[in-house]
Amino acid sequence: MLMAVTVLRLGHRPQRDKRVTTHCALVARAFGARELVYSGERDKKFEETVKGVVESWGGPFTVKYTKSWRSFLKSFKGKKVQLTMYGLPLEEAPVPKGNLLVVVGSTKVPPEVYGLVDLNVAVGGQPHSEIAALAVYLYRIHGLKKRFTGAKIRVVPSEKGKKTVASKG
Ligand SMILES: C[S@@+](CC[C@H](N)C(=O)[O-])C[C@H]1O[C@@H](n2cnc3c(N)ncnc32)[C@H](O)[C@@H]1O
Repeated sequence: MLMAVTVLRLGHRPQRDKRVTTHCALVARAFGARELVYSGERDKKFEETVKGVVESWGGPFTVKYTKSWRSFLKSFKGKKVQLTMYGLPLEEAPVPKGNLLVVVGSTKVPPEVYGLVDLNVAVGGQPHSEIAALAVYLYRIHGLKKRFTGAKIRVVPSEKGKKTVASKG
């Protein structure tokens, strides 16, 4: 049983990556990670956006900034997996147990990262997207998160239309 998943998003650039990093956080939350830690440039707007989603739709889920991805990665207690097209095929990679750090890149990932993690995992050997890779990987190890606490609103699944109700938290 997995205890807790943290996602480390490398090299955030507010101008270029705003939506992509936000989507990484939304995917991380929806697929059961507890937090996303990001490096690169600090982006308070991004942090506020995610906080707003958690306030409305529930958590627990937090976003934190780290100045040094290297020290964060080195000091993380638990298994560390980088998602990269150069890694072991998803279907063959072992599913880690316990605390897990899932690393995703943005532009060029420093070569050092490949050696600092316990495992590099490829969601197919073709270049695509950190958002897609994260969703597929977390779905494989976790499935979708079913229970969110502290939500103000929740969806009532319906075949047609958009239904929501106030949540009791
Ligand atoms: C747009 S890619 C750029 C990768 C970059 N060219 C590099 O040097 O690694 C951004 C991120 O998406 C993720 N990614 C892209 N394709 C992937 C794949 N096939 N499997 C796993 N992760 C992938 C990786 O986390 C990667 O760092």
